[in-house]
Amino acid sequence: NWKMGDFVQLEIARIRELVGDRALVLGAVSGGVDSTVGAALMREAIGDRFKAILVDNGCMRLNECEQVKETLGKHLGINLTVVEAGDLFLSRLAGVTEPEKKRKIIGSTFIDLFEQEAIRIEKEAENTPNTGKVEWFLQGTLYPDVIESLSFRGPSATIKTHHNVGGLPERMMNGQGLRLIEPLRLLFKDEVRAIGRQLGIHESLVNRHPFPGPGIAIRILGDVTKERVEIARQADNIFISMIKEAGLYDEISQAFAGLDTNRSVGVFGDQRVWGYIIILRAVRTKDFMSAEVFNFDNAFLANVSRTICNQVEGVARVVYDLTSKPPGTIELE
Ligand code: XMP
Repeated sequence: NWKMGDFVQLEIARIRELVGDRALVLGAVSGGVDSTVGAALMREAIGDRFKAILVDNGCMRLNECEQVKETLGKHLGINLTVVEAGDLFLSRLAGVTEPEKKRKIIGSTFIDLFEQEAIRIEKEAENTPNTGKVEWFLQGTLYPDVIESLSFRGPSATIKTHHNVGGLPERMMNGQGLRLIEPLRLLFKDEVRAIGRQLGIHESLVNRHPFPGPGIAIRILGDVTKERVEIARQADNIFISMIKEAGLYDEISQAFAGLDTNRSVGVFGDQRVWGYIIILRAVRTKDFMSAEVFNFDNAFLANVSRTICNQVEGVARVVYDLTSKPPGTIELE
């Protein structure tokens, strides 16, 4: 029977003990509740020796990077460095359609950039007294990520490689490079949210739907190109805005618009078009290990469909995914 208040104090003490009083900790934030709570704990524990970066992987949601930078600065006093790497990610993803491959490429590209940032930060800190090297790397890994990535019955039993658990190179795991610090490794999402509230993190951030590290890349079936990311991003923005306007955001655990591999024929005016297919997904879940489909009324969905077809060029059809988890997963890939 453990209490959340104890968790925060114990974890801050554990971080201080692990990190000591000279080392720097590098942390990647995404604007989601997990990495934000992780960052808040680090900042509480070691102040400015925690260095936060946000890697723009080219697969973030609309205006997300600017919003995250502003929010972290305003609410947590964290000065975030945004690393623009969209072109690098998209070039490495070119032609890759297999979901696990996408995750591994994205994961290893993140690590390459984190290591580069560690070097840059160390150079910057060279003349600061009592400051050591970047020795630790923060990850907002949760308990469900750990469970789903572990293989209980050999490799074939692996469900999915979460980019923040699998996909990490050996050198990060075996102590030769940056060591991992994962303050949330034993927590479920609702516990992370409770801790976020306790730390004074704004409700709009605490209640934010989760967004996976690989971002839109695992919501686009097939090829990830700039054009296809842009289409999914625009459609997603419309869907989420309409959900918020309808007052449904907090009733849904996670919602997004993804993109199908295939195209479909539609009619616009008197023209036949061969357009993209948007897949809407919205689920309710407590622990993200299983999930049920959210029941919108049809008029709402029809309105979303109409708006997306009208406003996102190239989209000719919108479908709603009715698959629960299991057998589906929450993300499309
Ligand atoms: P699935 O799709 O496995 O998703 O049912 C369960 C929860 O995990 C998130 N998710 C990820 N998060 N990296 C992440 O950081 C990943 O590779 C990843 N895959 C899934 C997903 O958004 C959902 O909240």
